[in-house]
Amino acid sequence: MLEGKKILLGVCGSIAAYKSATLVRLLVKSGAQVQVVMTPDATNFITPLTLSTLSKNPVYSDYFKTETGEWNNHVELGLWGDAMIIAPASANTMAKMAGGLVDNLLTAVYLSAKCPVYFAPAMDLDMWKHDSTQHNITALQGFGNILIPPGSGELASGLHGEGRMAEPEEIVAFLNDDIKKKSPLTGKKILVTAGPTYEAIDPVRFIGNHSSGKMGFALADELASLGADVTLVAGPTAQISKYQSIKRIDVISAADVLLECLTHFPLADACVMCAAVADYTPSHVADQKIKKHDDGLTINLKKTTDILKTLGQQKRAYQVLVGFALETQNEEQYAIDKLQKKNLDLIVLNSLNDKGAGFKNDTNKVTLIDRQLNKTTYDLKNKTEVARDICIKVTQLLKK
Ligand code: CTP
Repeated sequence: MLEGKKILLGVCGSIAAYKSATLVRLLVKSGAQVQVVMTPDATNFITPLTLSTLSKNPVYSDYFKTETGEWNNHVELGLWGDAMIIAPASANTMAKMAGGLVDNLLTAVYLSAKCPVYFAPAMDLDMWKHDSTQHNITALQGFGNILIPPGSGELASGLHGEGRMAEPEEIVAFLNDDIKKKSPLTGKKILVTAGPTYEAIDPVRFIGNHSSGKMGFALADELASLGADVTLVAGPTAQISKYQSIKRIDVISAADVLLECLTHFPLADACVMCAAVADYTPSHVADQKIKKHDDGLTINLKKTTDILKTLGQQKRAYQVLVGFALETQNEEQYAIDKLQKKNLDLIVLNSLNDKGAGFKNDTNKVTLIDRQLNKTTYDLKNKTEVARDICIKVTQLLKK
């Protein structure tokens, strides 16, 4: 669940700060991008150099970069994160967070953060048990912050008891579980197809199309980031998925896409059919390269199976089927015809008449039409944002 996530790690002045190095390492290994913000005192316990090396990002502890006089913008940092973890969270910083005090960059970033905030306290037993600490923890939880409880054991002071920061492995597992629990598509299996198909004429030639696969890959990434278990059937394309959790199956022809869809659709909760599948394929594939002759060449084509229509006929009541329609005229009517004929729950219409829409571009302009013929038209956006809009609708349909 941490793959591709942007994690802000706040480190406070506590002996447990030495564990931050392991925590950063584990987060990075999980595929997260990590940005560390330290309190000035924390830099006495572990060096910014260690944490910047491990996180592969600059570490911030001051409002200003003294060498250049530039400002470390706490608002920008706060908005960057998908999650913020404060570990170790000292009694002092928790008190400031509870009271809204902003006397260092970390507390300023905390106040600016819009993402979920997790805090893993670390302190001595008596400080931990003190009413004011417990009061501050209750206040922080009341603000919606998530406590990663400390463990029990020998403390740096020699005392035994509660107050030891959760181990880095426990923090990562806690975060993973919590994000998974809250992701809207956790437990949903979604099949996505992307890219063009190549229909062989002979061993060296094929009939293909201009699809880049960008839209389908953006959809697969977005669905995976929402917690879905994604199987991506990809035609020939140079695209790469952001998430290792996506199961990619490379295919070439319309027949290959059909075979994979027939295998995976029965197990899926939803299918987003974004691939530009060929409607026709050569009736006969020559075994040897076709040699040039003086007269023209005619290649006989036969129809491929309409995969979406086939899936629409098999679809069970709980399954959500999404198709695409790329049109050049009479756009909405053609899209509605496809939605109805193929028994779809949603159709994504893009018109080649809209500048910046369709194949190859990094942008797309779509209209979503559902079974009730509710229509939403979106502005021209980059394909990641378009994927987000489509996934919001898919998530709603899966909840019905
Ligand atoms: N599609 C499919 N199987 C095919 C061809 C297309 O499943 N053999 C799917 C595409 O993945 C897309 C949708 O059908 O989601 C619409 O594709 P499009 O080419 O716009 O429409 P067609 O139904 O092929 O009709 P036409 O080409 O006549 O517009």
